[in-house]
Amino acid sequence: MGLELTQDEKNMLEGKQGKAARKAMEIITTLGEIYGAERLIPIASVQIAGVSYHNLGEAGLEYLDEMAEDGKVRVLTTLNPAGMDLEEWKKHGISEDFAVNQQRVVDAFAKMGVITTCTCTPYLIGNLPHYGEHISWAESSAVCFANSVIGARTNREGGPSALAAALTGRTAEYGFHLEKNRIAEVKYEVKAELQNTDDFGLLGQVIGERTRKKIPYIVGIKRATSEELKSFCASVATYGGVALFHMEGITPDKTSIPDETEIVTDDDLNNARQKLDDENAEIDFISIGCPHASIKEIAHVAELLQNKKVTEGKTVWITTAKPTKDLAIKMGYYDKIEEAGAFLVSDACCAVAPLKGRFKGLMTDSAKACFYARGKNAFKTEIRTIEQCIREATT
Ligand code: F3S
Repeated sequence: MGLELTQDEKNMLEGKQGKAARKAMEIITTLGEIYGAERLIPIASVQIAGVSYHNLGEAGLEYLDEMAEDGKVRVLTTLNPAGMDLEEWKKHGISEDFAVNQQRVVDAFAKMGVITTCTCTPYLIGNLPHYGEHISWAESSAVCFANSVIGARTNREGGPSALAAALTGRTAEYGFHLEKNRIAEVKYEVKAELQNTDDFGLLGQVIGERTRKKIPYIVGIKRATSEELKSFCASVATYGGVALFHMEGITPDKTSIPDETEIVTDDDLNNARQKLDDENAEIDFISIGCPHASIKEIAHVAELLQNKKVTEGKTVWITTAKPTKDLAIKMGYYDKIEEAGAFLVSDACCAVAPLKGRFKGLMTDSAKACFYARGKNAFKTEIRTIEQCIREATT
């Protein structure tokens, strides 16, 4: 059976609603045909990735400008981190040239009606789907969080397909939009002790590397905060391409429980930690907020930095969303962080900012940040708790 379209969808495909809507509908229907979808479904929101000019380049920007000529988003749409803090970029050492081009990218999205706050935790700043809602998100950690922790339904979109979904308000019904594809495939019994966000990141690394794309059913975790779950999501998606997991007693979806069982021990976590700890790493960069920090994490860091100074030769970034930074300013956390010599950076992160060559070694509480620091920036890495990161920054 082929893809059946409504009259509104046919109109878009025939160009009756403009050039951008036509191109977008072509992308959506092509994906639908490739994956054997029978229909398109309305979506409630979109998260677009591929926002940093560092990754997009001129070719990507040209495409966006073309879509922005007559394209308008039909649903709530937010952006992934850009390559810089859109306001305070200068003091973070970003070049004027880069800033001009990054702003051109953001302006193109703004012209299409996208909310131009750039964050990988859109669910913390108002792009929050409800259980069972269909969405089209493109940031792997956010996709995993939305599918698993919230129980929304999304595939892991690419930048162009997410933009196409935003411009049409539709996605093709395949993959994780169908209940039959959301069933757990392998059980993980966690016997390791988990205490902090870095432990949850390491757990994501272990399960991600073992499970690859199989949907995990995780047992043995009694409690997990939103911050720990976002760290786990980022990591399991990075190391295994996992876009959905079930965690007994914590995530909302019902599923059958797989027979195949794997055990995760403290030794597994220690091995994962060792893999991320480079020998002789010369730490000159400390970054917290991958995925973007919550206000609770920022308050904690501000408290840790009180009456302390960042050591000369070290740079500290706490990365977050702009609305969260605004709240941090209001609450006095921003001043405490910046007076200590650290930076509260909004809209950007240590993986998508143009930082190559600026630092030698990164210390972070995020397993995902370690992955990109090595792969993209050739930094050495060490993974530690937030408390240890701040101690390293200030002594
Ligand atoms: Fe977010 Fe950047 Fe980490 S996009 S998940 S802070 S690598």
